[in-house]
Amino acid sequence: MSFPVTRMRRLRRGEPMRALVRETALDPGDLIYPLFICPGEGVRRPVASMPGVFNLSVDEAVREAEEAARLGIAGLLLFGLPESKDEQGTGAWEENGIVQQALRALKQSAAAKNLVLIADVCLCEYTSHGHCGVVVKSGDGPNASFDVDNDATLELLARTAVSQARAGAGVVAPSDMMDGRVRAIRRALDEAGFAMTPILSYASKFASAFYGPFREAADSAPQFGDRRTYQMDGANLREALREIDLDIEEGADMILMKPAMPYLDVIHAAHRRFGVPMGAYQVSGEYSMLQAAFEKGWLDPTRAMLESLTSIRRAGAGFIVTYFAKDAAKLLG
Ligand code: PBG
Repeated sequence: MSFPVTRMRRLRRGEPMRALVRETALDPGDLIYPLFICPGEGVRRPVASMPGVFNLSVDEAVREAEEAARLGIAGLLLFGLPESKDEQGTGAWEENGIVQQALRALKQSAAAKNLVLIADVCLCEYTSHGHCGVVVKSGDGPNASFDVDNDATLELLARTAVSQARAGAGVVAPSDMMDGRVRAIRRALDEAGFAMTPILSYASKFASAFYGPFREAADSAPQFGDRRTYQMDGANLREALREIDLDIEEGADMILMKPAMPYLDVIHAAHRRFGVPMGAYQVSGEYSMLQAAFEKGWLDPTRAMLESLTSIRRAGAGFIVTYFAKDAAKLLG
């Protein structure tokens, strides 16, 4: 017999054959589309660092939701740009807060029954200092330091989640990385009568340079210091698994991991270890670096986008939060 007997290329001849042996599928129903809601009416303000992404007023967000639903996208992840900010981040849990207004409007729209409405639970878009919790400062001048008070923040996060559930959130998604927040939020939701509202916990969230463009989109850059005392060190896989383990124990129904592309090993390890539904967030920097290369003509937009999403699914993410959701769904539809 002549060598080689095994010819891997036999199954690569023609698209029907390739489709037959394809291991990973992308479906619009696995995609979640993030929206940035801002005050006003008829506002559709481009985010300079994220081509194709906009700050949307509530009415525009409803239109966007209708399109997303038509495209078969699974759900929306809502972030808010409040009218004003303060030390505590009051805007996060106000009954008439920007995300609460959007949730109520979306619930009334025809799109609502076909979309999972997910509210991001965090304070950084609402605090004047841009940190994800209550800031405690000590000292003055060059020796001044600050910390984010974990336990004082829990109550504010819980309040935020309850107000979002009350406004119509189908899922709440804490992204702050405080310890114990899943349990605090679960308890508060249950006490307020929202025992059936699931928690999607950003359990594995790294302190990443790839969030840069988001901070412009959501106007949430920290005014001093950084987030490394609460978000994880990018060097740590075992720590990420512990974080996920703890959040599941505290009652998380689903887990979100982010960023996605630089952390495919984390997604893969978590997928093998845990039984809960898990998704990954292809974050702003991942999106914008691809967009930048598309603008320069250095990468083929369609192919690079679908390849990036397929890789995240192949690593083990059941669903993907991505700014490409609409573009991808149009192609997959
Ligand atoms: C809020 C939050 C951030 C992102 C999602 N939720 C920003 C951050 O932690 O600085 C980043 C998402 C993205 O980059 O697309 N804490």
